[in-house]
Amino acid sequence: GRVAVLMGGWSAEREVSLKSGAAVLAALQRAGVDAHGIDAGRDILAVLEQGRFDRVFIVLHGRGGEDGVIQGALELLELPYTGSGVLGSALGMDKLRCKRLWQGAGLPTPDYAELRSEAECAEAAQRLGLPLAVKPATEGSSIGITKVTSLDQLTAAWRAAAEFDPVVLAEHWVEGGEYTVAVLGETALPAIRLETPRSFYDYEAKYFADDTRYHCPCGLEPARERELAGLALEAYRAVGASGWGRVDVMMDAAGGLWLLEVNTVPGMTDHSLVPMAARAAGLGFEALVLRILDTSFP
Ligand code: DAL
Ligand code: MG
Repeated sequence: GRVAVLMGGWSAEREVSLKSGAAVLAALQRAGVDAHGIDAGRDILAVLEQGRFDRVFIVLHGRGGEDGVIQGALELLELPYTGSGVLGSALGMDKLRCKRLWQGAGLPTPDYAELRSEAECAEAAQRLGLPLAVKPATEGSSIGITKVTSLDQLTAAWRAAAEFDPVVLAEHWVEGGEYTVAVLGETALPAIRLETPRSFYDYEAKYFADDTRYHCPCGLEPARERELAGLALEAYRAVGASGWGRVDVMMDAAGGLWLLEVNTVPGMTDHSLVPMAARAAGLGFEALVLRILDTSFP
């Protein structure tokens, strides 16, 4: 049948999504799928209705596309789609509620505070200590995130985050190794360890820097990697994610694992992590997108 590949959209991650979408579209077409790229705008419902599509491959990142909004609309249109449903998508996009949920489920996530106003910054910093990650609750690709290492940076960091979302999160900064675990269906793919000379794996390190290092295999002992994969799967299931996704996890100096977030429509650009993990598992890009397309079949 006809497959619509949704990309672009109107979130701050639009440019990333256009790259992810172009890569997915080309791979589906190479694999012989009758796939059509759509740059999603506010008229997306009409476009989908007129296009007589049979299913939808969602490659939209960020709000409006990864957060349950499009997923809900597709439910109304009775169009099957890839990846997580409405609830998993909405929770995955909201770092604050995600963390509350993980805490409730007894899963480890760094201590945090919700900063509803600039005035709440100082108290949060006092309680959590420095450094802190100050982030908008609902953004992706590290957009709006600042590593705060001294108190005089706090206000500017809060403002930078609040530009993207009125709900701002301050999170205890875990110093150590950064790992990510891709999930395909109900299976964790080999973990990747990220290394950057920058202060963290930010937008630049994610998409432009050529000095970001990706280690896959990640170098952990097999038992530790199983533990990491198990935690990632638990975190993924706890938010109700399904189909595919990616869970970002920090390891502190003592070896403790800390969940940062779950991405329900992870990047699929040529720099991206899920394709890298799939490759390590023997799955090329085309095979990967076909497997993800399969998640739209009931
Ligand atoms: N939010 C970006 C696309 C990612 O998680 O890969
Ligand atoms: Mg994210």
